[in-house]
Amino acid sequence: MTGLFVTLEGGDGSGKSTQAALLEDWLTASGRTVVRTREPGGTDFGTEVREIVLHSRGHITPRAEALLYAADRAQHIATKVRPALERDEVVIQDRYLDSSVAYQGAGRVLDGVEIRNLSLWAAEGLLPDLTVLLDLDEDAARARLDSANKRFDRLEAEKSDFHRRVREAFLALAAAEPARFLVVDASRPVAEIASAIRTRVESLLA
Ligand code: TYD
Repeated sequence: MTGLFVTLEGGDGSGKSTQAALLEDWLTASGRTVVRTREPGGTDFGTEVREIVLHSRGHITPRAEALLYAADRAQHIATKVRPALERDEVVIQDRYLDSSVAYQGAGRVLDGVEIRNLSLWAAEGLLPDLTVLLDLDEDAARARLDSANKRFDRLEAEKSDFHRRVREAFLALAAAEPARFLVVDASRPVAEIASAIRTRVESLLA
């Protein structure tokens, strides 16, 4: 495969979408074809799964939740992401398998290795070339979400201890794979973060 696969990870409210949009603008301006997408929800099937997993009223067991994210991932990678990479395009994706390890593993307290293997099975082993972790402490993240004044989804509504475990899991994942990860302090100014991400992407495209 020839394209470049970049994923953005981090807690809710860490600024992933803002950075994804800035990176897309910069890459498009420099002549690359970009597919910007997200999990859950990058396909029609995924949009339906997203509705269940984020807004279902009834209780969803941790394993059922993990399988729903994995199902979304299998469909998304096979029908959208791999084809784009095969066309030599750049895929910028909001959340991927590290989110499952952090949220379903550390958050819901399932076995992190099993969750990672489930995702790798779903995605037929595809790993990103670069994963940007926007790291923000959970109080700052919560304050951003509160000020945005939007309706909390099922995961955002979890208690702060859940979000603390998720953050720690992301940091541990980054420490375990330093070559794949770029960790940025998400409390820094937006333009500085964007520039750090561009520098890394530029070196990967060179
Ligand atoms: P997202 O749409 O990225 O929400 P936000 O814009 O608030 O970051 O993701 C929706 C939620 O899904 C988010 O709370 C994290 C969660 N999630 C998981 O729990 N596991 C996963 O594998 C993925 C991809 C997301």
